[in-house]
Amino acid sequence: MSNATRLRRRLVGHLLGEGVLHDARWITAFRTVPRHVFLPRFFVPAANGWAAMETGDDKWLARVYSPDVLVVQLDDDSGLWERARYLGAQPGTPTSSSSQPTIMAIMLEELRVADGNRVLEIGTGTGYNAALLCQRLGSGLVYTVDIDPDLVDAARKRLAEAGYAPSCAAGDGAEGFPAGVLYDRVICTCSVSSIPPAWLEQTVPGGLIVTTLNRPIGGGLVRIVAGEGATGHGRVLARDGRFMPLRAHRFKPSKVPEGDVVWRPTRLPIGVITEVRSRFEFFAGLQLPGVAALREGGITALVHPDGSWIRHRQAGGGFEVAEGGPRRLWEGVESAYEEWLDLGQPWRDRFGLSLDGEEQVIWLDSPDGRTWPLCP
Ligand SMILES: C[S@@+](CC[C@H](N)C(=O)[O-])C[C@H]1O[C@@H](n2cnc3c(N)ncnc32)[C@H](O)[C@@H]1O
Repeated sequence: MSNATRLRRRLVGHLLGEGVLHDARWITAFRTVPRHVFLPRFFVPAANGWAAMETGDDKWLARVYSPDVLVVQLDDDSGLWERARYLGAQPGTPTSSSSQPTIMAIMLEELRVADGNRVLEIGTGTGYNAALLCQRLGSGLVYTVDIDPDLVDAARKRLAEAGYAPSCAAGDGAEGFPAGVLYDRVICTCSVSSIPPAWLEQTVPGGLIVTTLNRPIGGGLVRIVAGEGATGHGRVLARDGRFMPLRAHRFKPSKVPEGDVVWRPTRLPIGVITEVRSRFEFFAGLQLPGVAALREGGITALVHPDGSWIRHRQAGGGFEVAEGGPRRLWEGVESAYEEWLDLGQPWRDRFGLSLDGEEQVIWLDSPDGRTWPLCP
């Protein structure tokens, strides 16, 4: 048995142990598709940015078959890998990666494919996820699109090398795929602030769309059932996942505010809002539209585009906040937290979505219940 085969089996064992892989057909796909073919080079975190790693380097194969996300592009610039290789680690924001196998397994199972389903993937990246789809359904039923033509070219070659030939295209995945084909399933491996109506229109009524939500606070994984035209309804799923955003849905970077501040005590740790595992996080994101969390130099801050901000710190055995700008954001946080307690601490899987073209809302418990705009 080759090293790659042994490591691949170990990775599948890890996914089984995590309880994210159950379906025998997907287990076979993960056991079969050679992830190393799709990752001849990638970045690894370094003290001062991102270092370059490639085939043959010490630990390359072990990294490929680790359960880690492997970044393949920074700042939309395909040239940065060469710079990192020959000039040393580079700073940058990941703009393409081979996602964590754990979230890949979760999303592929949540897609609930059946034999004969035609699937569209948004976000080809390395091509590894497309290869898993091809292994499960056959290349003739898989379509994949990425906004970056260099990534698509590289993925197409690697897919061919591994024996797969899905339909690949370079373009804006928010538009779906070149017209004329309807899909049974759509899977998006980048996150979206709203559901592109083209996906709903290109999915057969009753077909499923699995994607992650891109929200400044409280993203998550959703499954949508397409209706007629650009309509659909769905649920936020208990199993969570976070992805880099679709290019047009990126947020503008903001900074932790500077200057003198007046601190006052608070009982709430900032983690209840900012930590993915916090049960309050999703509701907080709905109640604090536009508010984003930042961490810089040991300070955690919440900021809103209207200039309102909060700084939060640990002090003694408790916590302190300071705030500024036109609105008192922390009061909003505290009242949202109280309301969430009164509502019985709803977790993400009590929320759903109703979609009608650009009219897209999130609801609590039932479409007739309380609603919030999906993209405020
Ligand atoms: C996490 S990576 C995808 C991982 C990929 N499925 C794999 O298996 O390697 C996200 C990808 O989404 C792509 N992307 C971002 N905006 C896009 C858009 N508007 N249309 C299509 N792809 C987009 C990025 O270029 C990036 O390659």
